[in-house]
Amino acid sequence: MILKGKTILIMGIRNKWSIAYGVAKSAYHQGAKLIFTFMGEENREKIEELISEFGNAKAYACDASKDEELVVLFSTIKKEYGKIDGILHSIAHANTEDLRNDFINTSKEGFAHANDVSAYSLVAVARIARDLTVLNENASLVALTYYGSTKVLAGYNVMGVAKAALECSIRYLADNLGPMGIRVNAISAGPIKTLSAKGIKDFNTILDVIEEKAPLRRNVTTSEVGDSVAFLLSNMASAITGQIIYADNGYNIMGI
Ligand SMILES: NC(=O)c1ccc[n+]([C@@H]2O[C@H](COP(=O)([O-])OP(=O)(O)OC[C@H]3O[C@@H](n4cnc5c(N)ncnc54)[C@H](O)[C@@H]3O)[C@@H](O)[C@H]2O)c1
Repeated sequence: MILKGKTILIMGIRNKWSIAYGVAKSAYHQGAKLIFTFMGEENREKIEELISEFGNAKAYACDASKDEELVVLFSTIKKEYGKIDGILHSIAHANTEDLRNDFINTSKEGFAHANDVSAYSLVAVARIARDLTVLNENASLVALTYYGSTKVLAGYNVMGVAKAALECSIRYLADNLGPMGIRVNAISAGPIKTLSAKGIKDFNTILDVIEEKAPLRRNVTTSEVGDSVAFLLSNMASAITGQIIYADNGYNIMGI
């Protein structure tokens, strides 16, 4: 029970295929008390049913690209829970046309949108949580990233640029929050068939290549990624900050 006594905010659950759901299962199993955010008040009923297995966890609708909604969220959390011990940022979005066309055709609006939702939102989450003094000393922030931040993968396009910005933001945030004892890391997960992944052209081909080439010769599951995130959220990872840790069955080490 490496998360016993900790309260963790899980941002970005959509359905039972979401990586955030895998993280919630692992964190709950490890003893954490959970709080959730989701996108779109109209999804409340579905989300509440989905999270009913996690004790009496509450869910709050929050668009993470809107700082004013983050202020309301963290003010509410502070009032209802006091301080929390960790945050999972499991949020990304790019316009479909920017994942279908060549990267060179990315519009200024599409480029800004992908970076705003997928990278800047982590900076805003960290700053607003710090400013409203919601984070305990030893709190741990964890985001999710992907190999497409450093290598070219057909169809990942502007999301690769956003993940590069997210990973660099993790290093700067780790430096800013380190003196308060707060850690910031990311898990770079291997590809998983989620609703977001469906937007990526040729995603099934990527899955096939991993099965063939990754040292462990298989794709990762959301529960494996969940376990890796739970480790980073726990005190077992107390000396780890500013890192991008791959949970991808080793695929990233391969040349060809
Ligand atoms: N699926 C993969 O292959 C894979 C691999 C590595 C990393 N990731 C990353 O994992 C994270 C979770 O994605 P997933 O694959 O579980 O898909 P998902 O679709 O289940 O989760 C994405 C979440 O982002 C939320 N979201 C989008 N815009 C938002 C906004 N403005 N405010 C708040 N929430 C918003 C969606 O509502 C959804 O809950 C993402 O950061 C994704 O890039 C996914």
